[in-house]
Amino acid sequence: MATSSIKVLDKYGQEIKTVGFNRFGFDSEVPIDELRSLYLRPHYVSTAPSTADSSKEDAKETESTQGRTPYQTNSIYHPDSQSISYTTLTRFQPVKLLSPPERKRILVTGGAGFVGSHLVDRLMLLGHEVTVIDNFFTGSKTTVSHWIGHPNFEMVRHDVVEPFMIECDQIYHLACPASPPHYQFNAVKTLKTSFMGTLNMLGLAKRTKARFLITSTSEIYGDPEVHPQNEEYWGHVNPIGPRACYDEGKRVAETLTYGYHRQDGVDVRVARIFNTYGPRMNPADGRVVSNFIMQALRGEDMTVYGDGSQTRSFQYVHDLIDGLIALMNSNETRPVNIGNGDEFTIGDFAKLVRETVRKVKKEDDGVDVPLVNIIQKPIPTDDPQKRRPDTTRAKEVLGWQPKWSVEMGLEEMVRYYKAKLAEGSL
Ligand SMILES: NC(=O)c1ccc[n+]([C@@H]2O[C@H](COP(=O)([O-])OP(=O)(O)OC[C@H]3O[C@@H](n4cnc5c(N)ncnc54)[C@H](O)[C@@H]3O)[C@@H](O)[C@H]2O)c1
Repeated sequence: MATSSIKVLDKYGQEIKTVGFNRFGFDSEVPIDELRSLYLRPHYVSTAPSTADSSKEDAKETESTQGRTPYQTNSIYHPDSQSISYTTLTRFQPVKLLSPPERKRILVTGGAGFVGSHLVDRLMLLGHEVTVIDNFFTGSKTTVSHWIGHPNFEMVRHDVVEPFMIECDQIYHLACPASPPHYQFNAVKTLKTSFMGTLNMLGLAKRTKARFLITSTSEIYGDPEVHPQNEEYWGHVNPIGPRACYDEGKRVAETLTYGYHRQDGVDVRVARIFNTYGPRMNPADGRVVSNFIMQALRGEDMTVYGDGSQTRSFQYVHDLIDGLIALMNSNETRPVNIGNGDEFTIGDFAKLVRETVRKVKKEDDGVDVPLVNIIQKPIPTDDPQKRRPDTTRAKEVLGWQPKWSVEMGLEEMVRYYKAKLAEGSL
């Protein structure tokens, strides 16, 4: 399906045509079709016998770019052998031309990860100079490969535990594994990344006078005793449990951030992110949304841990990126929750995912697949029963509220994984 023919309605039934907004002197708005073509459209031309079909799709895509040249690549996908021939001759997606005072030099640590890659896409389309540093522990070069070679883009393999020198105006510090199997893989390394990585990036911000934003997490509230959680709540964290390396790591990273702010005047922003999902989430992460979608797409039983009565709220990645950019460019130095308050029990959410998978398969492929089974397994240690953000502060100080309904975000994500499964890259 051509990405331009997918219509997306927001929570209030209005069509979403753009993401981002012009606020705090920083314009972050881009057409959704431009952004979407970076993850829903393949980055190669196909040698498939059905090229007639794909050129029709391409023609539709060209129409939708309204006179602008769509980005092109000469890489060739060979469906028979599920292989791809890469070339360096790429025409990149057009990016805005900004005057030197408008164009910022932006460092994104962890920019090859799920959230980082979407932030990079947005900042690149907006015309800024973006440098990514990443050690590729959970991220992959493929998430941003469509920018490699672009004059505004630089990718450096680097571990934030070691110092890094660069001149920059803004630092988005995301580097840190975010899913339980990955952050528990080496708990001491996770703590080092949180503490030393943040120390190094704050040192860089101090030297360059760059503005520094850290992506903290709702996990700093632990298994909360108040609902929903606002930023004044100090949390209820087990300091020695299996999740502590991440939860306490992020808590100390916040402490360091405010230490540098108070002692050295570093200009800081702290985003407390709640569960986020979207295309490019690594399905090996074991996070609930990607697990459910992959199981339903493969026709396997869907696994719910516990009785499914625990609740979660999920925000779509474009809402998060809107919030991060707004926070970075605002004057708010206090922590700000960024999340979607629409709460689901995990059991209901599993049902929604399997229905979405069935709907997308019917709409895109005309196939009627049966609903898969949902089974239960024992709940892991310290898994919070309930978590929901209070986003009043984000609304008041950033004018930000989530727009994407969970249903719309899920449909995009299902299409993304479905295409990846079909081409053999998952
Ligand atoms: N996705 C969510 O729901 C969520 C929720 C709360 C907070 N966050 C925070 O957002 C940030 C990004 O999360 P994500 O979901 O994109 O996770 P991710 O694992 O996809 O991305 C993290 C990136 O950081 C890189 N990285 C890890 N350790 C590093 C190191 N020592 N040096 C350099 N790079 C390193 C990884 O390779 C990866 O590219 C993290 O800081 C995470 O704690 C995410």
